[in-house]
Amino acid sequence: MVGKGGAGKSVISGTMARVLARDGHRVLALDSDLLPGLSLSLGAAPDPVEPPLREAAEKDENGRWQLRKGIGPVRAVRRYAIDAPDGIRLLQAGKTPREGLEPIMGSLNAYYRVIHRLSGARAFEDWAFVGDLPAGPRHIAFDWAPYADVFVAVVTPSAQSALTARRVARIARMREGARAVFVANRVAGAEDVRHVEKLVGERMLGAVPADEAVAHAERLGVAPIDHAPGSPAMVEIERLVTALAEV
Ligand SMILES: Nc1ncnc2c1ncn2[C@@H]1O[C@H](COP(=O)(O)OP(=O)(O)OP(=O)(O)O)[C@@H](O)[C@H]1O
Ligand SMILES: [Mg+2]
Repeated sequence: MVGKGGAGKSVISGTMARVLARDGHRVLALDSDLLPGLSLSLGAAPDPVEPPLREAAEKDENGRWQLRKGIGPVRAVRRYAIDAPDGIRLLQAGKTPREGLEPIMGSLNAYYRVIHRLSGARAFEDWAFVGDLPAGPRHIAFDWAPYADVFVAVVTPSAQSALTARRVARIARMREGARAVFVANRVAGAEDVRHVEKLVGERMLGAVPADEAVAHAERLGVAPIDHAPGSPAMVEIERLVTALAEV
């Protein structure tokens, strides 16, 4: 899930992960945002201060971070991913602590190495990976979602959001075999969807309505799918999961 800040990446990725898990998929949710978001929309426990993945990293003789000996992607997920509702496993790069990035450098490095080996691991062949990326194009450009077959660019009805979505989709498509689709979020109606499509210059695979229940869930600190499972936004995200499977 990619797009501008506040576009709805975490709400949509967290809810999609829950829908996939309820449909019987094994789901690995991947959170490389250094700011909170995904754990809340998944309904998982609050982000730990110390990222568990820190344990998977060690420094080599040159002082460079690497994965500890004997830790591959399967073991890393088994040991250092967190349980989330519906059987989802959540692997996190870590959240920026008050002191800055230094305390989570080991975890960030371990995360980057693990995600680069996910697709090659047979144990994950039948898993669904759902990733929530930080806002903007930088993380895609630096290959922080190598596991992704399809990038979902989330776009709200604004020129800035549309420009960012176009940019990130373009960068995502540079990797051979990677596809990118667009999903409109917080739309007020069909007119809004047409407006977004005009701004982006492409069709939307889905259009998630502006939904007071989603905003309310956020204020309560609960996952939107738990707070208002039948709300219009949740119903559309369910439909989106089906539509994505056909992309
Ligand atoms: N369809 C919607 N209707 C109403 N509110 C929404 C909707 N989608 C998202 N929101 C609200 O908008 C805010 C931003 O959503 P979210 O956190 O998912 O965005 P994000 O793209 O992950 O942001 P960030 O770039 O900060 O990670 C949240 O408060 C969320 O509850
Ligand atoms: Mg987010």
